[in-house]
Amino acid sequence: MSSLFPLVSFHITLLLAAFVCIQGQQTTVKDVDGNPVLIGKQYFIQPVSAGGPLVPTPLSISSFCPLGITLIPLPFVWGPPVTFANGWSASPKTIVDTSSDITIEFKSNTAWPVCNEFSKFWKVNDSSSEPAIVIGGRPSRPEESWFRIRSAGVNIYEFSSSAKSIGTAPRSWFGLPQLILTNDNAKTLFVTFKKLGDAITSTPRIEKLGLRTLAVN
Ligand SMILES: *[C@@H]1O[C@H](CO)[C@@H](O)[C@H](O)[C@H]1NC(C)=O
Repeated sequence: MSSLFPLVSFHITLLLAAFVCIQGQQTTVKDVDGNPVLIGKQYFIQPVSAGGPLVPTPLSISSFCPLGITLIPLPFVWGPPVTFANGWSASPKTIVDTSSDITIEFKSNTAWPVCNEFSKFWKVNDSSSEPAIVIGGRPSRPEESWFRIRSAGVNIYEFSSSAKSIGTAPRSWFGLPQLILTNDNAKTLFVTFKKLGDAITSTPRIEKLGLRTLAVN
């Protein structure tokens, strides 16, 4: 038994090392270029499957505010960027990881024509089974405005809140896919993150498209 101990302990050390290694690889969220996603920097969220930007729009033709988030099927167009911040400010981090609560906030250089009395933080609208994700969250409210990012492949991610994921479902704004929180894996929205940087310095005003359509109606 005594001769076995060093071997067992060696194996435990190896296991621990492997575990730490896997944890390390899994926890840092990477952008599409393989760099860590940084707290406070601006990123475009790019849906993987259905190409096109995530754009603020009304949730239905009849209700304007708070705005929802719609996947507009226009490939190669950027939506407004977002920033991620620490949900739990007592333990601030500089890099986004898959085990921390974060807030998600749209960044826009121009004032939106509607709903400016609301914040631009993402929020779970209510406690229904598939609530809409709306814009107007309060960062101090974990249950409505804190999200997590889950790994879903190489530099591919999904957002979650509680045990559910952010997905899409066609709703009443022209039947386009809108962001919701759901248990249904078939609806999960897979995304990559592209840092706003030298290559992409200005945002086409695609967000205005959604909001202008509203004004025309
Ligand atoms: C948002 O939640 C409210 C209740 O707080 C509900 O009346 C409303 O229908 C919800 N909106 C959407 C689009 O789900």
